[in-house]
Amino acid sequence: MIKFWSYTREYKKNNSKILSAINKTLKKGNLFFGDQQIKFENNFSKKYKSKFAISCGSGTDALLISLLSIGIKKGDEVITAANTAIPTISAIKSAGATPKLVDIGEDYLINKDMIESAITKKTRAIIPVHLYGQTCDMSEIIKISNRYKIKIVEDCAQAQGAKYKNKFAGTFGSFGCFSFYPTKILGTYGDGGMILTNDKKLYLKAKRIRFYGIETNNKKNKFNNKYYANEPGINSRLDEIQSTILNIKLKSVDKNIKKRRLIAKKYIKSLSNSTLLLPNERNNKTHVYHLFTIYHPKGKKIMKYMLNKGVQTRSIYPYPINKMKAYFKDFKKNKNLNNSYKKSKGIFCLPLYPELKNSEINFILNALKFSLKKLQIW
Ligand SMILES: Cc1ncc(COP(=O)(O)O)c(C=O)c1O
Repeated sequence: MIKFWSYTREYKKNNSKILSAINKTLKKGNLFFGDQQIKFENNFSKKYKSKFAISCGSGTDALLISLLSIGIKKGDEVITAANTAIPTISAIKSAGATPKLVDIGEDYLINKDMIESAITKKTRAIIPVHLYGQTCDMSEIIKISNRYKIKIVEDCAQAQGAKYKNKFAGTFGSFGCFSFYPTKILGTYGDGGMILTNDKKLYLKAKRIRFYGIETNNKKNKFNNKYYANEPGINSRLDEIQSTILNIKLKSVDKNIKKRRLIAKKYIKSLSNSTLLLPNERNNKTHVYHLFTIYHPKGKKIMKYMLNKGVQTRSIYPYPINKMKAYFKDFKKNKNLNNSYKKSKGIFCLPLYPELKNSEINFILNALKFSLKKLQIW
């Protein structure tokens, strides 16, 4: 069986390096806010050309801390894409705000032409989600944010290293939010997240909110580094063990993205004559292929056939947010989400990770072609 995703092969390759680095870290006696975390924040901000980085406990927390830092509160509305992952919505709700969904275009990303009609007097922010590894149309979104004076918080959980007009995802808005959940472009062996910003004030605020509201960066403040909350905050830390792992893995992230792009190229070349809707790297964008997403109205049946042939695929995501019980009420009035609804019914992803062997890639393609022939759609 070819698994949709597994970390064990990658761990096998790196385990001695990682275990000895963790051992060194543990011997130092610092479990939080130590040199590994600082090193990771510095390297991450340098790599993705942003002035400041704030690590935190998860991608969901990165979004929540960012929203709180730009002042999002109860009564505010935050716009995002209808096909996003649940955490984008849970972060908006945790900040006390109301999420507003906008339908997607043919590229599975927020439809820039539909954003303005979702803006009301209460709209304070937009979260463009760079889903599957490709960025949204940031020029247009920036124009809208300037026109209506609404802030941008980018959800880059699936798009670390992706570029728009040669600029990295996560550097366009007030904040860029990343996830190090194990399946991600840069995954740790646990949870982790990162926030990028170029604004010093926002950086300092996000740092306080991450740590119960405690000031740690201002020696002039008599409560600096004292157990004293300057403002309400949460607890969201990236610990030294996860930071150690991420410092090692960050070194190979570019090589891994190259591999992902090569595998995607192979898939696309081999399937270009099929009836499937394949991913498409758009103008001015560099796709990192966190996911290789295919759409076909018979997607669910194709997935079943492929499983029988020994290949796990995954539907990401099978249910639109507005159809979920938790959010029925929030989205009762949200209309015109037809494309995200249609795509969710037939979307599926092929396995794609840097450790896949050529023989496995061929096996996956053969299983897919077999399934299409069986369904008479090849
Ligand atoms: C688009 C998107 N946003 C946010 C998140 C949340 O990240 P995490 O799982 O690290 O909280 C994820 C990952 O699951 C994601 O895919």
